[in-house]
Amino acid sequence: MESDNLDELMVCRLERGIRTLSPCTMVIFGASGDLTARKLVPALYHLARARQLPEPFRVVGVARRPKSDAGFRAELREALDQFSRTQPVDPSVWDSFAETLHYCQGDLIEPASYDRLAARLREFGDERLARNLLFYLAVSPSQFAPVVEQLSRSGLLRREEEPPFWQRVVVEKPFGHDLSSAQSVNQALTRFAHERQIFRIDHYLGKETVQNILMFRFSNAIFEQLWSRQSVDHVQITVSEARGVGGRGGYYEEAGALRDMVQNHLLQVLALVAMEPPVSLEAEAIRDEKVKLLRSIRPFDATGVARSVVRGQYTNGTVRGQPVRAYREEEKVRPDSNVETFVALRLLIDNWRWSGVPFYLRTGKALPLSASEVRLQFRRAPHVLFAAQCGSRLDANSLTLRLQPDEGISLRFNGKVPGTSTEVRPVRMHFRYDAEFGAYTPEAYERLLLEALAGDATLFIRRDEVETAWGIVDAIRAGWGARPLRDREFYPAGTWGPEAADQLLARTGHAWRNPQPLA
Ligand code: BG6
Repeated sequence: MESDNLDELMVCRLERGIRTLSPCTMVIFGASGDLTARKLVPALYHLARARQLPEPFRVVGVARRPKSDAGFRAELREALDQFSRTQPVDPSVWDSFAETLHYCQGDLIEPASYDRLAARLREFGDERLARNLLFYLAVSPSQFAPVVEQLSRSGLLRREEEPPFWQRVVVEKPFGHDLSSAQSVNQALTRFAHERQIFRIDHYLGKETVQNILMFRFSNAIFEQLWSRQSVDHVQITVSEARGVGGRGGYYEEAGALRDMVQNHLLQVLALVAMEPPVSLEAEAIRDEKVKLLRSIRPFDATGVARSVVRGQYTNGTVRGQPVRAYREEEKVRPDSNVETFVALRLLIDNWRWSGVPFYLRTGKALPLSASEVRLQFRRAPHVLFAAQCGSRLDANSLTLRLQPDEGISLRFNGKVPGTSTEVRPVRMHFRYDAEFGAYTPEAYERLLLEALAGDATLFIRRDEVETAWGIVDAIRAGWGARPLRDREFYPAGTWGPEAADQLLARTGHAWRNPQPLA
């Protein structure tokens, strides 16, 4: 059809030609952990299936327990059956991919382990596989510095100006637990590697819909015109989860919603939504703008925290018809825990574009449904024509970026209800990824691993970003101090958080718009 051809002609491919990835080895520290089985290996398998991995390529898993290559492969195969996003697993893809998987027993604090690893890499008999190295640190943050130090000591990781081979270090969150711990980890890492060799993961940046925020904003002139205080009344960013903390109580007791979600995912989404256009699509240009935006957030003092931040913790309740036990009754959670499982906050961005526009962010566990979205609520139409009959019932327009599920974008505007009477009501126009592009939803880790293998840092967090984000979160935590949760800060599982979260918006004449599943 002609229109299809036209659409095809308008596809603009931004990649600089086909990327040829250099032959390398990916070394996973913490290879017997959950992340390797659930995320990393399924992602690598799908990249192998799409023939996107470098050639040749090897994976070496490092962990404490003794295991043969064959045992390691068999365990991962079993996990893949469970966690692969495509089923069934293709045996021929697996068989050739499995040949690239190797295991090296090692204790992270023992220097001999690294020498053994180096010897193992040399056995591959190809200098590129022994010296182009992607180190993936799927280990606890307290081990980042010692591992990197050992890698450097053993000569596996080099901090060179113009190296003939490359080495990169990928680190998982949590990246520190406050600004000063993040700074010390950063100092330790940059002692042994250049900042450009460090890839800090925030898996939200690997999501298609999150990447689309920049494409949507900067390739559509009509929306960019509206993207400022001239037209936007306020912005709501919601990342809600129906799940409680489940088996992660031990970790969560040290984290809480503010550190676990706001410090990284929500502030990253905010930065992409609100940043200025970058001077180019290069990693540094984009990251410069994100940092600038984070730095323009008005700092919180104690009064600001009391007025603009709400926290909560779930009690017993029901989510989607299933009983959910209180956070304090979850495994490895203290029975008198004051850790927050919900945060809502209002922040202001002190720059020319956003001055005076409230940004409301909220996230929580055990909420009515799992959904992440960004909603730009536009200013109301002047009440000239419809004021008498409609007053404030005349809805303001809004644009919602649905990050997950039902990935897409919705525009809400008013329209006449058909019929002989004159009625106006909101209607919605939806763009759905699945309707337009089919059901292809790559996992965030597939994209992130590919970018790390290619050495493109755009989707990773730079040191100053992570530290600026911690600065914001630390100020909020300081405002809370050691004060225990008050009764009104608890919310039953299956509700949208404590009432104070609604009052936070009501004070400025706003109301949360809860995500709605699409029909
Ligand atoms: C992780 C948090 O970073 O993100 C988890 O540690 C949270 O607590 C998860 O559940 C949410 O990710 P997603 O991709 O399911 O929205």
